[in-house]
Amino acid sequence: MASVGYDSRAGPYNRCTMAMKEENPKRTLDLKIEELEALKSEARLAGGEQAIAKQHDRGKLTARERIEHLLDKDSFVETDMLVRHRSHGFGIENKRPLSDAVVTGWGTIDGRKVFVFAQDFTVFGGSLGEVMGEKICKIMDLALETGAPVIGLNDSGGARIQEGAASLAGYGYIFDRNVRSSGVIPQISAIMGPCAGGAVYSPAMTDITFMVDETSHMFITGPEVIKAVTGETVTQEELGGAMSHASKSGVAHVVASNDEDCLDRIRYLMSFLPSNNFESPPYFSPTDDPARSCDSLNDLMPDSPNIPYDMHAVIKEVFDDGEFFEVHEHWAQNIIVGFSRLNGHPVGIVANQPQVLAGCLDIESSTKGARFVRFCDAFNIPLVTFVDVPGFLPGTEQEYGGIIRHGAKLLYAFSEATVPRLTVITRKAYGGAYVVMNSKHIRSDMSFAWPSAQIAVMGAEGAVNIIHRKEIAGADDAESKRKELIDDYTEKFSNPYIAAERGYIDAVIEPTDTRRKLGQALDMLRSKRESMPQRKHGNIPL
Ligand code: HXC
Repeated sequence: MASVGYDSRAGPYNRCTMAMKEENPKRTLDLKIEELEALKSEARLAGGEQAIAKQHDRGKLTARERIEHLLDKDSFVETDMLVRHRSHGFGIENKRPLSDAVVTGWGTIDGRKVFVFAQDFTVFGGSLGEVMGEKICKIMDLALETGAPVIGLNDSGGARIQEGAASLAGYGYIFDRNVRSSGVIPQISAIMGPCAGGAVYSPAMTDITFMVDETSHMFITGPEVIKAVTGETVTQEELGGAMSHASKSGVAHVVASNDEDCLDRIRYLMSFLPSNNFESPPYFSPTDDPARSCDSLNDLMPDSPNIPYDMHAVIKEVFDDGEFFEVHEHWAQNIIVGFSRLNGHPVGIVANQPQVLAGCLDIESSTKGARFVRFCDAFNIPLVTFVDVPGFLPGTEQEYGGIIRHGAKLLYAFSEATVPRLTVITRKAYGGAYVVMNSKHIRSDMSFAWPSAQIAVMGAEGAVNIIHRKEIAGADDAESKRKELIDDYTEKFSNPYIAAERGYIDAVIEPTDTRRKLGQALDMLRSKRESMPQRKHGNIPL
């Protein structure tokens, strides 16, 4: 019977080298080096040429090709290349490929150290068994100890069925490390194939999840099981495709068009992030003028407060060279979040989008905003907030869904953030949503308003209908009375000056001056140090 231990590799090379050992020691070493090279070549071939061809036919790169594309040229240092699983049963003992189903190691992106693991679908469908779990954990431990990001390239059928409980344990050890690393080092996930079961929970606990359009899927269980259990018919793509998770569930933050695009985008994301929570995000010498006038912004605001405009235009005009890495572009589009740079320093942007639901806050946008704010706060990325918010979205769907609880997440996230926080109110800032959107009252460091800002409990029409209800009902011409009262309210309250008189706004600024003012404020706040009271942890309304 064939041995299945580690010494089962005592192949022709070993027998040969033993025989020659005493005659010619140098020659023996040469042969041993050849043996090592042969083992490495075998490892590089992973699941075999056929499986690699199948991977390519599906439009996917192999694990090693992905790492090569992701990292700076020749920077990858591989770990555990010669690992093999040690499991028995279901015939798995006869198939013990080197490296198992994951390639692990470290390298650099733009010269900065990152740790990486790439699951290898050509080996057992990238499924996770005991030693694969150990390899990933080793990388995660090194990343946490040395304060460097972990990037996981996922392409896996989940727990390796043949390895049973050992696979589940492997996931548990990874999840535990995800949580320990959370807020200490950035954790980035790319979903680059069919990821099922355990393969989706670890990414869900990381900071940013990328998916590749059409070739990647995420689900806790696939269409066949769903059909059997609930009778529902759904395709893999509808259930767990990139656009489903990017636009419906919010599980995916970024959709890439193919593997290369995905890896390029991860490299770009890293340019905004520090290596760990003790570092500042990377500074790039700016080419854009800090005092540049934002000329297009004076023409952007429509005369009527009910006509929308695209908040992306504001973001593109204000920040360095119009750069913007949008996160959750397709989900909860009534709020925009993403990274840019101001005078070379990364910033996190949170902005209401008047073009979608008039920029109202609802359940999904509150959750989206809150998670982004907490990520920026954890990694020392200053926040810039643009406000044009008519309030929280009303209705039973929102109330029954728990808008109170979810809206509170955004309020909580802004309130606990100790990074520099800047706010620009462009137009509406009504009611509770005004307070939530990084207002002075929850310790925004600098709040600016454009002259078009309206800071009030609610819009003029709603306010007049409530406080003058009896007066309007008793008037001879109710409609003209209503209009008169609305005009009066608008003149008195729909402006930034009442808030400015009280110091709730630090300055009313011309839109063209927004970049210069934000840059000055950010420079002033560079040395900001603030901490929250000592405690185990707060209790954010989840
Ligand atoms: C062992 C697996 C595997 C798995 C795939 N393979 N998934 N081997 N364990 N979980 C193997 C297949 O047997 C096959 O081997 C090879 O990988 C490629 O798989 P295919 O099915 O041929 O590929 P494809 O048609 O592309 O389908 C991919 C897939 C499908 C959608 C991922 O394989 C699948 O549904 N797998 C099972 C997914 C699943 O239910 N996982 C949940 C496990 S439970 P050969 O030798 O034929 O090439 C779990 C819970 C963890 O993860 C909970 C932790 C908290």
